[in-house]
Amino acid sequence: MHIENHPVFGKQMHEPVTIYFNGNEYKAYKNQTVASALIANGVKKFGVSRKLVQSRGLFCSRGRCCSCYMTVNGEHHVRTCMKKVEEGMDIYPNLEDPEVRRD
Ligand code: FES
Repeated sequence: MHIENHPVFGKQMHEPVTIYFNGNEYKAYKNQTVASALIANGVKKFGVSRKLVQSRGLFCSRGRCCSCYMTVNGEHHVRTCMKKVEEGMDIYPNLEDPEVRRD
């Protein structure tokens, strides 16, 4: 759920953009982060942990951990809590990290 009319900040979401997560189309708004846009659309699993392969999602929300890593427009390990959405952005969860798992 997007907060389109915040009681304190008012209407700040007036420029809709379309993003793609796992090939599916989602609605977001300019200046939203990728992570907040996905959570507003009901996506909570952003990837899996490297060793235990357990679900990862938003944790610190301020760019200090690696829980929100995803692949954005072909770039791996993007901290999506800090990356703002752009029109047509192509996002994939961080489901594997082959170089690490081979160790
Ligand atoms: S949730 Fe910690 S860096 Fe994004």
